[in-house]
Amino acid sequence: MNTHLGLYDFEVVKNEPVGDALQRIVIASPELASTIAPGQFVNIAVPGDARHITRIPLSYSASDAKNGIVEIVYAIVGEGTRRLAAMKPQQTSDLVGPSGNGWQISAARDTGRVLLVAGGVGITPIVGLAHELQARGRAFDVVIGAQTKARLWGVTQSRDAGAGRVMITTDDGSCGMRGFTTTAAEELLKQQGYDCVYTCGPAPMMAAIARIAKRYHTDCQVSLERMMACGFGACHVCNVAMIAGGYKRCCTEGPVFDAEEVVW
Ligand SMILES: Cc1cc2nc3c(=O)[nH]c(=O)nc-3n(C[C@H](O)[C@H](O)[C@H](O)COP(=O)(O)OP(=O)(O)OC[C@H]3O[C@@H](n4cnc5c(N)ncnc54)[C@H](O)[C@@H]3O)c2cc1C
Ligand code: FES
Repeated sequence: MNTHLGLYDFEVVKNEPVGDALQRIVIASPELASTIAPGQFVNIAVPGDARHITRIPLSYSASDAKNGIVEIVYAIVGEGTRRLAAMKPQQTSDLVGPSGNGWQISAARDTGRVLLVAGGVGITPIVGLAHELQARGRAFDVVIGAQTKARLWGVTQSRDAGAGRVMITTDDGSCGMRGFTTTAAEELLKQQGYDCVYTCGPAPMMAAIARIAKRYHTDCQVSLERMMACGFGACHVCNVAMIAGGYKRCCTEGPVFDAEEVVW
């Protein structure tokens, strides 16, 4: 049970572009910063339009409990994220969080290497995980992919967090390998064994990574994105179909799932 879930105020510290329609916001919210765990997310209320009553679910890429701040990198895709990008330092709002179940790091053996595979806005929770692995002294490699160089971030952050290898892919070849994260991830899995693969990105990418991990007999955790309404388990808008039958709610029972329990 998520005992820290609550409604918290926050203040914008920084809100700046980090790429093409890609924004980094740093918020001050001491209670959140001291309780949020990698793979969990927040549901942010963006002020400015009373007709928009739903919050925006966003993962986080870094947290600093000492200074009470949390960093989120998000893509500007619609009305809510456009208004979020317009928020200025010292502006305030509130959020619900920390939400959901994060990455299971204990599922990997203590000494083994793990592989992180991120695509597009899925880079945010993967960078959050990289920081946690660094704090735990775990060895890991990272594959990061984006459509094009201007939509790529997280490479420096992954290296700074101590990643062994960082492989970059872009669909158009403007940075790193031309192609998809799946090719780079399979190459690494072929070269060496990993205890676990952690992935977040577009659904077809995660489905393919899950298939590849299975082929190499490697555990795989996926962080799923679903449309969300309430964000706290009441409406079932975010249902995820399970192999065992029935559904689980992405907002409270996810967003991280074992790849083998999900119907792709
Ligand atoms: C658990 C979770 C974590 C997320 N973490 C991040 C993150 O770290 N960074 C980031 O950039 N985005 C993240 N998202 C996606 C983000 O919530 C949506 O992009 C955002 O809600 C869009 O709001 P909007 O009002 O700007 O766009 P809207 O006008 O509502 O929609 C614009 C477009 O985005 C699509 N969309 C809207 N909501 C979602 C959603 N929840 N999932 C997928 N597509 C959606 C719509 O179908 C539409 O095509 C996350 C989503 C979930 C569920
Ligand atoms: S968004 Fe309402 S139950 Fe998940």
